[in-house]
Amino acid sequence: MGKDVIVACDFSSAEQVYAFLDKFNGNGKKPFVKIGMELFYGAGPQIVREIKNRGHKIFLDLKLHDIPNTVKKAMAVLSNLDVDICNLHASGTVRMMEAALEGLTRPDGTRPLLIAVTQLTSTDQESMENDLLIREPIDKVVMHYAANAKKAGLDGVVCSPLEAGKVHEVCGADFLTVTPGVRFADGDIGDQKRVMTPAEAKKIGSDYIVVGRPITAAEDLVAAYERCVAEFVD
Ligand code: C5P
Repeated sequence: MGKDVIVACDFSSAEQVYAFLDKFNGNGKKPFVKIGMELFYGAGPQIVREIKNRGHKIFLDLKLHDIPNTVKKAMAVLSNLDVDICNLHASGTVRMMEAALEGLTRPDGTRPLLIAVTQLTSTDQESMENDLLIREPIDKVVMHYAANAKKAGLDGVVCSPLEAGKVHEVCGADFLTVTPGVRFADGDIGDQKRVMTPAEAKKIGSDYIVVGRPITAAEDLVAAYERCVAEFVD
């Protein structure tokens, strides 16, 4: 898959997400969408089937983390939903990630892409040391988790666009970097701390950008989506 813009559909109901996607009917584009826990738990797996039927690619952002056997079985269910990307926490260990890949792989050998969350961006050095008793520098932990994901056979990681270049150095150019924290140069930053424009993310080598409010809260959301695509993909 090539570079693409993934729209974070952080809505709480199916009606809201359909109203949002209907806006794109006019321009013939079917944005790649990210479905997170809120929508999935609220609307159920049917929301995935429905959005798939409408012709969208789906990144199902459920961040699995459990014992290897449980994750393997859960991944088999997600694979049957025919999503394009799903994810898990790299902190679940290499063995858990390997089990996840096994579960995800269909009898015909195909499977959705699988990417790992390293350290959440809401975790900082202090909380990592005090709460998790991890005393290494956070950048080193992030790269170690990315290397573990690569070792387990995963396709990439979710990371800050600021980390994308380093992840490619450590794990190779083919290892995918999926990066949230994207804002237009003239846009609102909101609660994101370290942001990049779509053009900067492209320059630094992100493979996919995940963009929520700059598109979903825009007055003209189709224009905002197309601006992202123009800066990042074209
Ligand atoms: O609205 P905004 O563009 O900030 O949305 C970014 C999306 O990416 C949200 O769904 C958010 O949960 C997700 N995300 C993030 N930072 C991470 C991981 C996921 O912003 N480190």
